[in-house]
This record gives sequence, structure tokens and C-alpha cells, in this order.
Amino acid sequence: MSEPAPGPEALPGVGLRVSLFVLALLAAFVLVCEYVSRFQPPPQPELKGVSIERGRAVFWGKGQCHTCHRIEGKGASVRGPNLGDWPERKLPAIGARAALRAAERRAQGKEGMTPAEYLIEAVTRPQAYLVEGFGAAMPVVWRPPIALVKEDLLSVLLYLESQDGAPDPASLRLPADVERGLEEVAAGGGARADDSALPFHGDAAAGRRLFFDEVPEKKGAAACASCHAVELEGKKLGRSVCPDLTGIAARQPAAYLVESVLEPSKVIVSGYEQFQVDLRRGGAPVIGLRLAEDAESVTMGVGADREERIRRADIRRLFNRQDLLRVRKKDGTLVVGVRRAETESELTLEEDGGAVSVVKKAETKSVTSLGSSAMPATYAESLTTQDFVDLVEFLRTLR
Ligand code: HEC
Ligand code: HEC
Repeated sequence: MSEPAPGPEALPGVGLRVSLFVLALLAAFVLVCEYVSRFQPPPQPELKGVSIERGRAVFWGKGQCHTCHRIEGKGASVRGPNLGDWPERKLPAIGARAALRAAERRAQGKEGMTPAEYLIEAVTRPQAYLVEGFGAAMPVVWRPPIALVKEDLLSVLLYLESQDGAPDPASLRLPADVERGLEEVAAGGGARADDSALPFHGDAAAGRRLFFDEVPEKKGAAACASCHAVELEGKKLGRSVCPDLTGIAARQPAAYLVESVLEPSKVIVSGYEQFQVDLRRGGAPVIGLRLAEDAESVTMGVGADREERIRRADIRRLFNRQDLLRVRKKDGTLVVGVRRAETESELTLEEDGGAVSVVKKAETKSVTSLGSSAMPATYAESLTTQDFVDLVEFLRTLR
């Protein structure tokens, strides 16, 4: 059994709450990144080594894009939007879609944004605009761990442009801070730089035992595998009703892993939102993951180990909890209901009794979603610092 790596001893002792401590460290880390990325204008883009072929290879390889996106009729699109032709949303493939998105961004105040600039924004600053129905789960792909180099980044952009659009290398001019950032990542060791991003290191083997709940005196303390599967030594282990964590550290930075454990509701992986079933006979609603459904019934996963099959005839209503909104109006009144429709200017909410309210967006003061993650929000309180650090170390081996 390996010794715990040095580091955690310097942290507050076992039993202390990890949350505040680690979040403060993270905040400092993020500030440094933001600061560092705010320097000087870039040199002109160098377009040698940039091609659609290379972009396709990046998409299906080190860019990890395929783990979240579908394109050219292949791949899954649960975690992220379909980048190919997307009939469910009546949207064309991303090369053509970029023009629609750019128009939307211009209407939101991004004056003069071109389709190419939209693609650049979507790929280099994914949080700037979130595709409806998706959370901020896309990593910054030019930063570690993915750390695409400039030619990869431009090539993948060109590849996106080629999907029903007009690929034009001259249209792809990266913003100044991204150019700078790319140079810094390259200078700082590229993909490996993420290894120094966290100010602590734990014992991955100990973390693995906690993940699989194999420590008798700590039964249930973490038990991540009661929900998550992961592939290890060629075998799928754990229960796969929640996101599969295989390769998670190859696509998400260390800070995301930390946040996923401490604040699971901050980013909810799409496709794994909680649903609520209100029953005709009344009583407590059933809240959990929607595991399966057919014409007769819906199967819900409740907590780490319970499955409930509910006949459709018994269901009064079924909705994604992300759509359960609390709307505070400027006149002080409060409306709580499920979003049934939304336009630029209005929100239509169905209240619990079935009443439908149409709220003018101009009259709202705040709109909050009451949806939360199906993952326990208690780890920040219940894990010891050592166990937390060990778990994160284990997650970081998943690449
Ligand atoms: C861990 C999952 C994940 C990975 C890896 C990922 N993305 Fe995304 N991507 C998302 C999510 C979630 C969204 C929707 C939220 C948003 O708009 O940022 C998104 C949005 C997008 C959009 C906007 C789509 C639209 O309809 O406007 C583009 C373009 C895109 N990603 C390209 C890429 C490319 C290229 C890569 C690889 C270099 C990549 N993504 C890697 C999750 C991911
Ligand atoms: C009761 C089930 C449950 C348990 C137990 C659980 N999780 Fe989760 N976890 C989820 C669900 C559901 C999601 C997706 C929703 C979200 O993003 O919060 C998730 C998301 C995650 C993600 C982000 C995955 C991605 O693809 O981006 C990570 C990382 C994660 N969990 C790690 C852990 C770790 C580590 C533990 C144990 C300490 C754990 N989880 C315990 C249900 C669970």
C-alpha cells in the first residue's frame, strides 16, 4: 500500500471542512488565470499546418470533442449539442448554424459578430454563450488538460466551418487573449501543466478504495461507484446510471473535478438532470433520474440504489426540475412553476394546481431554477480533507 503523497499534512486536519478551504484556493487559481490572459495584442495567425483533415482528427482524437458531441452522423450528443444536422431542434449542421447563432449574438449586443467569430467564441470561450438546455460543462479546450495547440484549434474550427458551411482559413482570427494564452500553455508544459494546477496531491490508491466503497471503517462515506461507472484495466466497474467517468480527467481540468464533488449542482451534466413525477393520487412526488420509459411506464432512479417503475396512468405530470422556476417580479410577487414555453419577451409557467401564468420578462426581477444535481451535495461537509484529496487524486488518474 503506498504512502500518502506529501501535501495534505499542510492542510487543516482530518475532520475539518474542506469546502471553504479548497474553494478559496480555487478562486485564487482562477484569478491568476484570468489575470494572465489579459495581456497584449497577438501576432497575426500563422496558418501553416491547418486543414480540415487535421481538424477532423482533432475532433475524434485529442480534442475529445466526440465524447460530448455528435457530428457527420456519428457519436453521441447527450452531454453536448449535436453539431451535425439537428432535426429535433430544426437546426442545420454547425457550419451553417453559425450564421444563425451569430445573428442571435448580434441581437444580444455582440455587434458585428460574424459566423466565424461565433465558432471561435463557442470553442475558445464556451461559457460566453450557452446553447439552450445545456450547462457550462464544455472545457476550455486550449487550456489543460486538452490543451489544443494553435494549429489544432484552427483546424478544428475549419472542420466545423466545413459542416454545411464555407470553410475559409482567412476568417479564423483568434482573439488576442487566446493567442497569448496558447503561448503560455505551450511555454508552461502544455497538457501536463494541469498537474500543477491544484495546490495539493493525495493518494490515488486510497481514493480508489473510497470510490468503490472498499474501506470497511468508512462504509458509505464516498461510495461514488454506487452511481458512477468507470473503465479500469479494460473492465467497466460500478453502476452506470450516472455519467460514466472514464477519461474524465483527459477532458476536464482538475478544478472541474474538485467542483463536481464539492458543488455538484453548479454544472449539471446534460442528460443527467433530475426529473419530478407528480402522482395523480397526490402525496410526495418522485424525484430522481429518468432512467427509462416506454408507452406504459417511466422508470425513475431515486438516490443511489432505488428504482421505481411508475405507470403512466398514475402520472399527473412529469418534468425536468431544471424547468422548475421561481420568478420574483418587480412588484414583489412570486410565481413558482414549470416552464412550458418561452419567447424573447415572455415566460409561460404552469403552477402546481395546473394554473398557467404568463410572465413578461421585462417585469421580472430574478428567475432561478430550482433544479439541482442528483448527486449528493453533502460531500463538502462529510468528507475529511484527506479523503477528499485522495478521491480527487484518483479522479485525476482517469485519463
Ligand atoms: C465535456 C463535454 C464537451 C467537450 C469535451 C466539448 N464540448 Fe463543445 N459543448 C459542450 C456543451 C455542454 C455545450 C453547450 C453549452 C455551451 O454552449 O457551452 C457545447 C457547445 C459547443 C458548440 C456550440 C454549438 C451550437 O449549437 O452553437 C460548439 C461549436 C462546440 N461545443 C464545439 C466543440 C469542439 C470543437 C470541441 C473539441 C475541441 C468540444 N466542443 C468539446 C460540451 C463539450
Ligand atoms: C446518488 C448518485 C451519485 C453519487 C453517489 C455520486 N454521484 Fe457524481 N454525479 C451524479 C450525477 C447524477 C451526476 C450528473 C449531474 C451533475 O452534473 O451534477 C454526477 C456528476 C459527477 C461528475 C461530473 C461528470 C461529468 O461527466 O462531467 C463527477 C466528476 C462526479 N459526479 C464525481 C463523483 C464522485 C467522486 C463521487 C463520490 C465522492 C460521486 N460523484 C458520487 C450522481 C452521483
